[in-house]
Amino acid sequence: MKKFAVFGNPIAHSLSPAIHNMFAELTGEHIDYRIIESEIDNFENDLSAFFDEEGVVGCNITAPFKERAYRLCEGSCNAEAKTAEAVNTLHKKGDQLLGYTTDGMGLVADLIRHLGTLEGKKVLLLGAGGATRGVVEPLLKAKVATLFITNRTMAKAEAIVAAIGQHNFQSVAQSDLDHLHADIVINCTSASLTGDLPAVSAGAFKQCALAYDMSYGRGQTRFMAFAKENGAAQTLDGFGMLVEQAAAAFTIWTGKTPDTSEVIKHLRPK
Ligand code: ATR
Repeated sequence: MKKFAVFGNPIAHSLSPAIHNMFAELTGEHIDYRIIESEIDNFENDLSAFFDEEGVVGCNITAPFKERAYRLCEGSCNAEAKTAEAVNTLHKKGDQLLGYTTDGMGLVADLIRHLGTLEGKKVLLLGAGGATRGVVEPLLKAKVATLFITNRTMAKAEAIVAAIGQHNFQSVAQSDLDHLHADIVINCTSASLTGDLPAVSAGAFKQCALAYDMSYGRGQTRFMAFAKENGAAQTLDGFGMLVEQAAAAFTIWTGKTPDTSEVIKHLRPK
């Protein structure tokens, strides 16, 4: 039996156990995946005790511990984790603890599932927090033509652009969004969590093939409704990304690739 867990606080309602148990069923793995709600001061101790257990292969990390988990494996992380300075997946390989951020892989996989390819697309990111930093590199690697970023606080968007330093990754002022004609607009802000609309103009969706909200819940978010009203051809929430980022972690741990469509269909909140 391979052992896994997800660490967070609060974490009681996490869908991760259900998702990974379904992956295991589909791929013939025998796993034990549990929820560990660490006290804020005790995360490092709980993590270390978990990895000392017999049969532990890896774990997922969620808020508010992603940055602290990164500090424990800073020297052995993937590029996305280094940019985000956060990890959502840890893998014990021999004596080594390897860290990954799989959110970007998850987003790209979900976008490709719906659009076929990202190659040559003009993509606009709304927001400049941790969620954004985790997805910039995977989107650039997926060969988007240009990646734009805007934020309520522009200085934060400009700082990410400066840190990445790639010619086709540019910041854009909120007042210029109407002229951008982005193919894909992605809401990476946390505005949907409080039922808010991120700062974005109606004109940003004029030629938009897909408006994607990284948040998800029952029904559509305010961002999705606003995008649809203003011309977006298709809108999606982030439930597919949640399952795809979990699948990327499952593949890191087991080498197996589960059928995500099946899991998304089965577990989507109704
Ligand atoms: P996360 O780790 O989820 O990305 P974060 O690092 O706190 O969280 O970043 C939150 C992002 O959502 C920021 O870009 C924030 O904008 P500011 O940088 O201007 O604070 C954005 N955000 C949150 N609530 C918002 C709202 N109501 N309208 C617009 N942007 C919002």
